Amino acid sequence: MPLALLRERAFNQRWAEQPEGVIPLTAADPDFPAAEVIREALVAHVREGVFSYGPPGGLPLFRETVARDLRQRRGAAVEPGGVMAVNSAAAGLALVARHWLQPGDEAIVWDPVDFLLPHTVRAAGGVPVLWPIGRHGPLDLDGLERLITPRTRLLCLCNPHNPLGRCFSRQELEALGRFCLAHGLRVLSDEVWSDIVYPPEVFTSWLALEPALAAIGVVVQGFSKGFALAGLRVGTVAMADPEALAALLASSDQPSTVDGVATLSQVAAAAACSAEGLAWLAAFLEHLRQRRDQTIAALAAIPGLTVSSPDATYVAFVGLPAGGESAEALVQRLRQEHGLALVPGSPRWFGPGGAGHVRLCFATGEGILAEGLRRFAAGMAAAKPGRSPSC
Ligand SMILES: Cc1ncc(COP(=O)(O)O)c(C=O)c1O
Repeated sequence: MPLALLRERAFNQRWAEQPEGVIPLTAADPDFPAAEVIREALVAHVREGVFSYGPPGGLPLFRETVARDLRQRRGAAVEPGGVMAVNSAAAGLALVARHWLQPGDEAIVWDPVDFLLPHTVRAAGGVPVLWPIGRHGPLDLDGLERLITPRTRLLCLCNPHNPLGRCFSRQELEALGRFCLAHGLRVLSDEVWSDIVYPPEVFTSWLALEPALAAIGVVVQGFSKGFALAGLRVGTVAMADPEALAALLASSDQPSTVDGVATLSQVAAAAACSAEGLAWLAAFLEHLRQRRDQTIAALAAIPGLTVSSPDATYVAFVGLPAGGESAEALVQRLRQEHGLALVPGSPRWFGPGGAGHVRLCFATGEGILAEGLRRFAAGMAAAKPGRSPSC
């Protein structure tokens, strides 16, 4: 792990933003350099020295490679014309929300879920309507039905789910799809975590569903989580219907060049989808599976915590003892007194459903993770009995 470089370059609550000595198991961003094949592709492109404008929807190399990858790895019915390059998954979510929501429109969003989903709806002028979800158990379709109003337009999925680490089965997605068809809703499926799924769990993309269901959805993907390319800000928006995708692209600022994706980032993304890139991903996934098991075993040994092994993602969402210190107070104490940074389950990060939890990212090396988990245990052991939630 290039720790000196991470201290210079890893921002977003990570190494470069923490005081010396603090281990950041915070933002979901790996502590590893990108695959050799990606770095080589970037170097070769740079050496050639031609950096002209790219086309608005992305380089043909990007659209063709990503469409092939979606067909081969996800069983998605998608053509190059149904794929566009965007400036990150976050930008893809924003583009879709702006295109599909009018001010005051309501969008169903899980609670808890990564802050980006409700944030995206609000930024587009929409109103996020929270639908509670747990780590296990059936989806509450009756509860969903009660949330529907004449203003409901969109169902926002996060599959695999951050922070619960849950993947949704084909049957669950089909049930949601039929529900949305019956209520005239569209589906925004955030699949940025779809590369990080631990066998035997199986991931199902929205675009792999039957055509009538795939047609009402849009899939957003990225290269930050699976390929350690967060700083290159590149992602994908994909739809089954190339004409619908063309309308989305036309509604964006990419044709005007106000917005658009750096061609170098697209070159990196295409290299990620190569055979060598996917072999790197497989090795990374095996490393993560070991870190996940290491994390869950260590957390399970800390009295009072509630833990569940994630089927996907490289985050653990840890329940804190009821009636004890608040997540915010614990996170502050762990950082100041024990040298460990975590993300608190505050409404700002995960919605009200995240209360009483902390999120821990385990995409790091074995030794650093072991030390971070040791600090977590030490911090929990040092908690004073009777610290109230307002501490
Ligand atoms: C659910 C979810 N969606 C989107 C993103 C953003 O990904 P990107 O870096 O490609 O914008 C993240 C990053 O943590 C995420 O967890």
